[in-house]
Amino acid sequence: MTKGLLDIEALDRPEIESLLQRARDFQPLQQMREKRLDLLDGRLVVNLFFEASTRTRISFEIAAKRLGADALSISSQGTSVSKGETLLDTVSTLSAMRPDVIVMRHAASGAPHFLARHLPIPIINAGDGQHEHPTQALLDARTILDNRPSLEGLRVAIIGDILHSRVARSNIHLLSKFGVDIVLCGPAPLVPQDLKDLAPGVSITYDIKEALRNTDIIMMLRVQLERQNETNFPAGEYSRFYGLRAENLALAKPDAIVMHPGPMNRGREISTEVADSSRSVILSQVENGIAVRMAVLERVLQ
Ligand code: NCD
Repeated sequence: MTKGLLDIEALDRPEIESLLQRARDFQPLQQMREKRLDLLDGRLVVNLFFEASTRTRISFEIAAKRLGADALSISSQGTSVSKGETLLDTVSTLSAMRPDVIVMRHAASGAPHFLARHLPIPIINAGDGQHEHPTQALLDARTILDNRPSLEGLRVAIIGDILHSRVARSNIHLLSKFGVDIVLCGPAPLVPQDLKDLAPGVSITYDIKEALRNTDIIMMLRVQLERQNETNFPAGEYSRFYGLRAENLALAKPDAIVMHPGPMNRGREISTEVADSSRSVILSQVENGIAVRMAVLERVLQ
């Protein structure tokens, strides 16, 4: 198999550490006037997005350009996918145009793994169904490490729709490899008990107060309505039981940080007051996404 990045589960600790370290080298570049390096000069990165995305797609595109590569973004609307072409045919057609890497987001869990088995070109998973979103977990870890000396021994609460969240799954795999105490919390149908078996160090509670008490890091997640057939939880009721607001945030450690992968549903899983507070590192996550994706593209292409 050509080396790409399909999931966090398959990475070992040194591989994760070296990506996070390399991302740190790229962080200062964001503040510079001249932001372009020539490490991937002349290489072609194709972003193929079969699902909606703002942050991830733009961030991969910027990361590629900052490394000197050419970047092209394609969404499924406006391509032959809408004319009934199979995934393998679409991607084989693209791969005949000789990109050096394909970054792919797809609604089906395992879609990038399937392509990686059939194509002689590295594939980077930009989110596959409810399975994994490896670069999100890396940028989350980078953001935590910008605020804490190490991951070991931290208590991290992941709150919301864990069942449908690839962000949660990738974070659970990553944090667990570093001995983090991971508490999952949300409405029972969205946090089934068997998620405890995903990785060591995971516990579950249905009481947000218990999840928040003494926590270092709070990761809030959106309810992924597009991956469920159930009826919507009324926003007011959801927010009352599982929303992060100033009064329950006070239960966490005084220096706890608040994270969210976006897109946020303000007034539902997170109040505007908390989202815009000094405890929120949500925009740092977005900024770190570029440095982390530069590290990933460099590793995959060099
Ligand atoms: C997430 C995703 O698409 O998995 N967003 C992101 O990539 N930053 C989370 C979500 O859609 O809720």
